Amino acid sequence: MRRNPIAESGGAAARYWWRDAVFYQVYPRSFADSNGDGVGDLEGIRSRLGYLELLGVDALWLGPVTRSPMVDHGYDVADPRDIDPVFGDLAAMDALIVDAHRHGIKVTMDLVPNHTSDQHEWFTAALTSAPGSPARARYLFRDGQGPDGPTPPNNWPSIFGGSAWSRVTEPDGSPGQWYLHTFAAAQPDLDWTNPQVREDLTHTLRFWLDRGVDGFRIDVAHGMAKPAGLPDMAVSDNRLLHNTNEDLRFDHDGVHQIHRMIRAVLDEYPAAVAIGEIWVRDDERFARYLRPDELHLGFNFRLLEADFDAPAVREAIEHSLAAVARVQAPATWTLSNHDAQRQVSRYGGGDTGIRRARAMALVELALPGVVFVYNGEELGLPEVALPDAALRDPVWEASGRQERGRDGCRVPLPWEGEQPPFAFSSSADTWLPMPAEWADRTVDVQLEDPHSMLSLYRRALELRAESEETGTEVEWYGAPQGCIAFRRRGGRRVCALNTSGVAVPMPAGEVLLSSVDLVDGRLPADAAVWLS
Ligand code: GLC
Repeated sequence: MRRNPIAESGGAAARYWWRDAVFYQVYPRSFADSNGDGVGDLEGIRSRLGYLELLGVDALWLGPVTRSPMVDHGYDVADPRDIDPVFGDLAAMDALIVDAHRHGIKVTMDLVPNHTSDQHEWFTAALTSAPGSPARARYLFRDGQGPDGPTPPNNWPSIFGGSAWSRVTEPDGSPGQWYLHTFAAAQPDLDWTNPQVREDLTHTLRFWLDRGVDGFRIDVAHGMAKPAGLPDMAVSDNRLLHNTNEDLRFDHDGVHQIHRMIRAVLDEYPAAVAIGEIWVRDDERFARYLRPDELHLGFNFRLLEADFDAPAVREAIEHSLAAVARVQAPATWTLSNHDAQRQVSRYGGGDTGIRRARAMALVELALPGVVFVYNGEELGLPEVALPDAALRDPVWEASGRQERGRDGCRVPLPWEGEQPPFAFSSSADTWLPMPAEWADRTVDVQLEDPHSMLSLYRRALELRAESEETGTEVEWYGAPQGCIAFRRRGGRRVCALNTSGVAVPMPAGEVLLSSVDLVDGRLPADAAVWLS
């Protein structure tokens, strides 16, 4: 039973269900495996919808499940309008949508418009076609520099390591042109000035919306448009999640026209939502993506990037709110996702990491706007240190084994039982190995324990859903050094966070929820509380 008043009422409010929603990000390979191949799938997700309802989330963000050779685990799409057999088929997707809706949960999917897989039929056709042909014009093929072109067309590096250009062999066997791939070589960038590329995306949008999908998370939404002539760039820190304002490949002005086109299609489905992955640090430029005729929501990673330090957390919150206020879009909040180190480890690991992650969950869920919970964060899963042989992220090889990549936050979820695979799968051979220590982190164990991370998330989500606070701004209270206290403007609930290292006196009020047991009316270190 959803208690979110905004989601429940009809009319305009139902249309904007997402303005205050809690999304749960499912990493499909790692959530639940129904057929025993060691990889999660759609039937697995469907079988666990009861859990998601119990947790109390409003919507799913489903990582990529479309056809893919899985070099980047689905972010290399070979057919955007079909389901990959490893996850099921279209019937399984339809069944998931229907059942999720029965549980009161919306379904949004990942959409990957910046690039395709090198196995996409367009790219295989480009390889067998001549330079300058229409088949090549859907991608960014260029001649190399120098006589016979042995040097890449420009100096752009791939985000995953190495050059962003790979050279092809022409059909006659001679060394040929180069194609651009901002990410892995198996992810050729599309040329978004090509009308066929644009038109194809509108087909994909309608294809899924007509099947009942409630919206999309748009991968690399600040990519797609490239500067004319593809000039060299000043290469600084190029790693994933470290994008700078100076990176020419991102946030090019031309991208907004693409978002307007996407929005025009979504407006035919008034309750649908588009959420962009926007790594743009400048507030004014970030807000441009959220103008009324562009995306509805933009991922904001400031909380994820903030240290466990009250001034840094406050700064992240203020900055995030200010960015969206100029276009009256809701703020969004993220503490983790499939690209970032898990917060328990980021905040120091062990008991300290858990305490801090609990505190930050209460901060995040007290904020106005939209929250994204990444599967497993509600279980307090830490980053897993995997052996070299287990690594599957293309970053590992593309970086010449310098960067270990993102597998550590993608390990499958432990559901029940004493040992791996903890009912994630019937096979012990899971696609990433699961740590035996997770026996005390399973969903089953945590549901029974009122002090578990899962119980904290459930209670916080329940209180959040019951709350009728609608303020979109935050009011700050005076707080001891190393602490912050705030409420939503016009609201009555106060959230206080203590990062000072010592217990502090608490603001007045009745305790609604606390991340640790409170002693003598004081807020311990590494803790947060909700008061009314
Ligand atoms: C986004 C995704 C990431 C993926 C990349 C390329 O940043 O979140 O997982 O590797 O795009 O599609």
